Amino acid sequence: MLNGEKVLFSGMQATGNLTLGNYLGALKNWVTLSDEYTCLYCVVDEHSITVRQDPATLRKRARALLNLYIAAGLDPEKNILYYQSHVSGHAELAWILNCFTYMGELNRMTQFKDKSAKHADNINAGLFTYPVLMAADILLYQADVVPVGIDQMQHLELTRDLAQRFNAVYGDVFTVPEAYIGKVGAKIMSLQDPAKKMSKSDENPNASIYLMDDPDTIMRKFKRAVTDSEGHVAYREEQPGISNLMSIYSAVTGKSMDEIEREFDGRGYGEFKTAVGESVVDLLTPLQARWKELDADKAYVDGIIKNNAERANYMAQKTLRKVQKKVGFPEKVR
Ligand code: TRP
Repeated sequence: MLNGEKVLFSGMQATGNLTLGNYLGALKNWVTLSDEYTCLYCVVDEHSITVRQDPATLRKRARALLNLYIAAGLDPEKNILYYQSHVSGHAELAWILNCFTYMGELNRMTQFKDKSAKHADNINAGLFTYPVLMAADILLYQADVVPVGIDQMQHLELTRDLAQRFNAVYGDVFTVPEAYIGKVGAKIMSLQDPAKKMSKSDENPNASIYLMDDPDTIMRKFKRAVTDSEGHVAYREEQPGISNLMSIYSAVTGKSMDEIEREFDGRGYGEFKTAVGESVVDLLTPLQARWKELDADKAYVDGIIKNNAERANYMAQKTLRKVQKKVGFPEKVR
């Protein structure tokens, strides 16, 4: 708790271009949650280097992501929006937590197994201890809640185990965080293969709507989206293509599936796809405009970066000092 509000922590990686799936599945909910919690939203650049990155590109994308947080409606005064690498406490706490994490626990992490298969030429120790850094992110701020997708649940479970293990030895040091599973945290699928999640790393550019796509591109991608030959707009598990388009339309407009079915009763997929495309263009146009303004106003964003890193650092230091004392590091001489 901080000033009577629960603390919420979440983060995103600045690798690849963010998609409509990232926005509807996460970022949009972050904005809603920021009314209710004291929120830290981090650009987790330290996690990104577990896979080799081009430095200039990483720096550019991290800045773009931070601008996107703001453009999406996260208030940088109410929330703490910052780069992980600007708060040294993340790495320092991660080291300590490493010493409380068992090899066997990390060996079981499915994301580690997937990523090692994908990057077989660079299975580095950072990739292995990635979940420990994530635990440090969360525990450093005594977060009560962590909104995460299902793919990160195993990491969150580890975080809870580490917090409890540490607390069992040293007393109540860490808040044990809960997962926040969004009510309608829409899961958006690929437009070309609706069995797969819409992903920023998809090789097929038609599979994903990128948040910076222009209106023509958006309309074209929706027109080409894979559906089926039945031709009626109705939500059915066995027709994931049309169902996905309905999920998108529902997430963007707030209309229920029933309302959408009624609205498009007797009208074909073509008309529906146009409506979905237009709703997404209407959603993204102001966001893109705000993003461009921020991109052009370097001084303003620099101010936010500086101020927010200081606020994060203040909170982080409080926890870190407590932890360092508990494990037996000597007090600093002032
Ligand atoms: N690993 C998360 C992902 O890839 C990103 C992340 C890093 C994160 N640290 C976090 C998410 C802490 C929630 C809380 O999606």
